[in-house]
Amino acid sequence: MTRNHVARRSGSPRIRSRKGESASATFDEIVDVRFDRRELLKAAAAAAAIPAMVSPIAIAAASKALAQHGPVLAFKEIEAGIDERHHVAEGYDADILLRWGDPVVPGGPPLDVRNQTKDTQLKQFGYNNDFIGYVPMPGAANPSEHGVLVVNHESANSFMMRPGLTGADRKLVADWVTKDIVEIEMAAHGGSVVEVRKRDGKWAVVADSRYARRITAETEMEITGPAAGHERMQTRDDPTGRKVRGMLSNCAGGVTPWGTWLSGEENAHQYFWGTLDDSHPEASGFRRYGVPGRGYRWGLHHERFDITKEPREANRFGWVVEIDPLDPAATPKKHTALGRFRHEGAEGVIARDGRYVVYSGDDDRFWFVYKFVTAGRVNPNDRTANMNLLADGTLYAARYDKDGSGEWLPLVAGQGKLTPENGFRSQADVLIDARRAAEVAGATKMDRPEDIEADPKSGKVYVALTKNENRKPEQVDAANPRADNKYGHILEMMPDGGDHAAVTFRWDILLKCGDPADPETGGTFSPSTTSNGWFANPDNFAIDGDGHLWVATDGNSHSFTKRADGLWAVMTSGTARATSKHFFRSPVGGEATGPCFTPDSQTLFVAVQHPGRGGEDWPPFGRTATFEDPASRWPDFQDDMPPRPSILAITKRGGGRIGS
Ligand code: FEO
Ligand code: CA
Ligand code: CA
Repeated sequence: MTRNHVARRSGSPRIRSRKGESASATFDEIVDVRFDRRELLKAAAAAAAIPAMVSPIAIAAASKALAQHGPVLAFKEIEAGIDERHHVAEGYDADILLRWGDPVVPGGPPLDVRNQTKDTQLKQFGYNNDFIGYVPMPGAANPSEHGVLVVNHESANSFMMRPGLTGADRKLVADWVTKDIVEIEMAAHGGSVVEVRKRDGKWAVVADSRYARRITAETEMEITGPAAGHERMQTRDDPTGRKVRGMLSNCAGGVTPWGTWLSGEENAHQYFWGTLDDSHPEASGFRRYGVPGRGYRWGLHHERFDITKEPREANRFGWVVEIDPLDPAATPKKHTALGRFRHEGAEGVIARDGRYVVYSGDDDRFWFVYKFVTAGRVNPNDRTANMNLLADGTLYAARYDKDGSGEWLPLVAGQGKLTPENGFRSQADVLIDARRAAEVAGATKMDRPEDIEADPKSGKVYVALTKNENRKPEQVDAANPRADNKYGHILEMMPDGGDHAAVTFRWDILLKCGDPADPETGGTFSPSTTSNGWFANPDNFAIDGDGHLWVATDGNSHSFTKRADGLWAVMTSGTARATSKHFFRSPVGGEATGPCFTPDSQTLFVAVQHPGRGGEDWPPFGRTATFEDPASRWPDFQDDMPPRPSILAITKRGGGRIGS
C-alpha cells in the first residue's frame, strides 16, 4: 500500500483480543482432509489387495491413485509472530538477492546512505520494491535458472532513507524535504530490470548486464490507445498528448506470454499538488480520483505535478505500462485502452480464441474489478506484433450478482449509459474517467480489489479484496459480505465455458480472512488451518504449478493480528479447499509483496517493502520508527545502515519444488 509518505499512516487498528486459537492440525490430518475419502478407500483397497508379495508396480499404482488428487502443501509451517527478521519454513533458504541502493546499471555505486544523490540513485535499485516478474533468458540452457527480473519501485519513504528528516516528535518534517531530496525520490521510483542467474543452487545478479535498466519518474514513455493524443492528455510539455515522463506508484503487475512486463500505476494521485477551481472541467474527475493527494512535495519543484499550473498532467498517470525487459532502449508504453484507475495487478491469460485478457483491480474502497480483452490475437511467432495488442480492445468492469453469477460490463462509448449526455463524448472520456464509466454501467463496488490472477490450469480467477472498514451494514452485498471488513477476503471466479473472453461468469468466496477461531472476525479458513495458518489483508498472489494460491499480505500488525505480514499458501480445491499454511514471514513493518515462481516452481522470489517502519504497536519497540531509530535494521543489521526494502530468493535445500 505505502500511501502518502508525508501524511504518514496515522493511528493503528483498534486492539482486538484473540479469543483462543484453533486446534493445530498435524500434517497427516491435513492430508486426510485433502483427499476425497471414497478415493482414499479405493487407493487403500488397491494397497490392501497387494498380498505378502509386495509388487513395486502395485505400490506405484496405489500411490498414483493418491497422487491424482493433487499434491499437498508439504512444508512445515512457521509460527505467526513479529520480530526484526524474516523467517521461512524449515528446509528452505530465503537469501537476500537485491536491496535498495544495490548497483543495477553498469557503473552503479554501492549505497552510501549518507551521501546519496539523484545520480547515484539513478544507477541503483530503487525503493519499496513491490511486483516481481521473471522472464526466462531467451536461449537459456535452463530457463528456470537464468532470466531477467522485473521489479517496480512503488514509493519512497525519505524519512527512512536519509538522516535528519524527523522532528522531536519523530514525525517527518515535510518542509525539510528539499528539491535535492525530491530528485532522489523521483529516481527511487519506477522500476528495475536485472539479469539473474542461479549457479550451484544460489541466485545472484549478473553484474554489468546489457539488460540492466532503471526506469524512473522521468523516463520518457509513449501513450497508446484511444486516449492517446486526446486534448485531455495534452500538456505544455507535451502538446501531442502522446508522450509522458515517468510511471508512478507502480504496484502489482504482470508478465505477458511474449515476455513483456506490465506494471500498474496505483496511487498516482499522491504526487500532485496545488488546487483546481471547481469550475474547471477536470475538477469533478480529480475529486473522484483523489487528485491532488499531496503525499509528496514534487509539485513544489516540478510544475507538471502542480495541478494549478498543469491541470492535465494527472490524466497521464493511473494506467498500465508495458516495458520490454529484453531491450533496454525500448520506450515503455502507457496503454490507455486498459483504463485509468488505481491499477493493482495486470496478470493475463490467453482466451480460447487467442485474444489476450488482462485482469486488474482498482485498489480503493468501493471501487471495481476490471478485465481487458484485446481486439487482436496473440501470435506466438510475432513478438513485435504482440507488443501492439494492448493498444486496442475492450475494457469491462465486473458486476457480481447474488445468485453466484456475474457479468462483465463493457465500457464502450456510445453503449448503454456511456453516452455524450452522460459526459462520455468519446472512448477517451470513458477510459480517462474509467471509475465513473464503470459506476454508470452498474459495476459492483468492492472491498479494495488488489491482485487478480488466473490459474492457467483450472481457469479459475482469484481476486484479492484487501479490506474495507468503511462498508456499512446496509452496504453489504453477496460479493462483499461483511460490514466493517477489516480482514478482507478472496473471491474465485470461473468464466462461463472456461473462456476468459466470455462476458458472463460464476463466482464464489474462496475464504474470508481473519482468525476462524474468533467468531467476531468471521474468518472462514478450512478446519485444518492452524492458528498460524490464517491471515488478513490479502494483497498479491502467485499460483504454483500445482494450483496452490500463494498469498502475500499487507496490513498485519501486533495490535491487529499479532502477526507480521508474510506469505501463506492456500489449497484451492478438494476437501481441503481454503486450508492455508504460513510459509514466510516479513520483518516488523515489512509488507510482503510480489511473490513470483520460476517456471519450474523451484524458486520463489518475494519482496519485502518498507521493513522496519512503524513499530508503534509492537511492544519490544513501541515508538515511531525513524532513519536514526528504525524498528529493524533488516536485512544488513549494521548500526549505520537503515532497513532496506529487498528481494529474496527462496529455494528448497537440496532442490525441489517449493511447497511440495
Ligand atoms: Fe500498492 Fe494496493 O498495494
Ligand atoms: Ca500493498
Ligand atoms: Ca499491492
